[in-house]
Amino acid sequence: MQEFKEEIIKALESLVQLGQEEIQQNLSIPPDAGLGDYAFPCFILSKKWKRPPQEISQYLAQEISKKGLGEWIKEVKSAGPYLNFYCNREKLTRETLKEIYEKGKDYGKVKEGGGENVVIDFSAPNIAKPFGIGHLRSTVIGNSLYRLYEALGYNCVGINHLGDWGTQFGKLISAYKRWGDEDSLKEDPIQYLYQLYVSFHQEASGDENLEEEGRHWFKRLEEGEEEAVELWHKFRELSLKEFRRIYRRLDIEFDEEQGESFYNQMLSSTLKRLEEEEIVRKSEGALIVDLEPYGLPPALLRKKDGATLYATRDLCAALYRYEKYKFQKLIYVVGAAQSLHFQQLFKILELMGLPWASRCVHVPFGLIKFKEGKMSTRMGNLIFLEDVIDKAVALARDIIEEKNPDLENKDEVAEMVGIGSVIFGDLSNDRVKDIDFDWDKVLDFSGETSPYIQYAHARICSILRKEGAQASREADLSLLEREEEQRLISLLARFSEHIKRAAETYKPSTLARYLLDLTSDFNYFYHRCPVLTAEEGLKEARLILIDGVRQVLVNGLYLLGIKAPSKM
Ligand code: ARG
Repeated sequence: MQEFKEEIIKALESLVQLGQEEIQQNLSIPPDAGLGDYAFPCFILSKKWKRPPQEISQYLAQEISKKGLGEWIKEVKSAGPYLNFYCNREKLTRETLKEIYEKGKDYGKVKEGGGENVVIDFSAPNIAKPFGIGHLRSTVIGNSLYRLYEALGYNCVGINHLGDWGTQFGKLISAYKRWGDEDSLKEDPIQYLYQLYVSFHQEASGDENLEEEGRHWFKRLEEGEEEAVELWHKFRELSLKEFRRIYRRLDIEFDEEQGESFYNQMLSSTLKRLEEEEIVRKSEGALIVDLEPYGLPPALLRKKDGATLYATRDLCAALYRYEKYKFQKLIYVVGAAQSLHFQQLFKILELMGLPWASRCVHVPFGLIKFKEGKMSTRMGNLIFLEDVIDKAVALARDIIEEKNPDLENKDEVAEMVGIGSVIFGDLSNDRVKDIDFDWDKVLDFSGETSPYIQYAHARICSILRKEGAQASREADLSLLEREEEQRLISLLARFSEHIKRAAETYKPSTLARYLLDLTSDFNYFYHRCPVLTAEEGLKEARLILIDGVRQVLVNGLYLLGIKAPSKM
């Protein structure tokens, strides 16, 4: 569709005296196919031209037709205030299916990023605490943005900014020294550490000394005392080992795993720089940045006891990342609860006169709520991501057992379907809204779910398998002229447009929506248009068409972080 669009822009450019960019932004997709493939709204010109939009659209239609239509524009028609462009469908069909076939898993990718760096800070669970469901959102949204920006031709750097520093580690060491034992720790590290942490808080409420002891241990840790550092190191490694197991199951990798502790070495020089630049000031012994002129509360960067904070480490991290990557964008995928923190952070970078401050973006998201009673929890009301994954996989396994008992690799498929349903259950929702997670809904094979999409994909694979090696790439594609077929072609041709939109708005949900539409349009086609039993010629053309659908489904699911089994 891009070439068609370019032709439209060229045709309009000289007539409407608008820049290419502006025309491009105003072109919209008409609500129904009868109105063409792109529409240009003429009312945006009526003020300047002092003429009603209907008249302008008629005039433009005439002028463009007079000059002669290009290779791609088949027809241009005025419809009220809109100017509608109709694409040469035969050419679109041929070129789209050819491109999908030639590019395969690269279909949909564009080169606009030019290899520039996009740094994505995502996942970032906290050491010694369970990988909770809250971090799931950051993990799956971040991973999808990573893949989307990569598809736009950027070089992505995924950073897991682990929560591995702070006063809580003093408390944890103190608790472990008092009550801990090595064997229980090794058995189920995160669970055990979390329990220690909880007991510490229970005990500390009646015991002043314990709080003091915790502070003391943190001080020893900060001073690099051997025993403290060793224990911290052990907790960190054991936690990471568990996190890595989850990442492996989710098929997620990071380029950097620098947690908060990594920035300790830069804290004092950064604070010194801020003092020299007179951005921080002392207030009752603490160091703060006054942000009142910008309508924000003051940012505390050093407490009066000398301890630095989450914000101080984030500031160092941003500076370090720019030094290292000279990024085009630095994206933080972190819950909406931290919006204020990022507003303050970005403001401080701006006050430091750093031109790249405006390239930092916070991508917030809402909470996930589980329908009550459906999820038993190991501890209090804390939901563990791994339990959610296990449950989804087990449910998927049951469904497969029921639907396709003869399937060979049931466990493997159940893993792909179960995990896919959890990821899609998250990504298909508008990012900023809270999610009501409903097991029956996310695994419904006919609902708006990933199994629904995966199932259509597997079905296409099965049709193609039946045809086997006989399938030929030689077919008269002009036979694909039915509405059911042309709807699919339009969607396939617009794949990269949807990738772009999802990346630019940081909303994988728009791509999820696209895949659901493609799947339902495929089902619509398949119910009305036989493939294997179609007459010779048409059959070959339809096989090529569904092979294109298959490829785009795989590529699209990949961008969401979901796998597509070829049988299910
Ligand atoms: N560990 C933090 C939390 O769980 C999230 C860190 C996000 N990244 C960052 N650079 N602040 O709340």
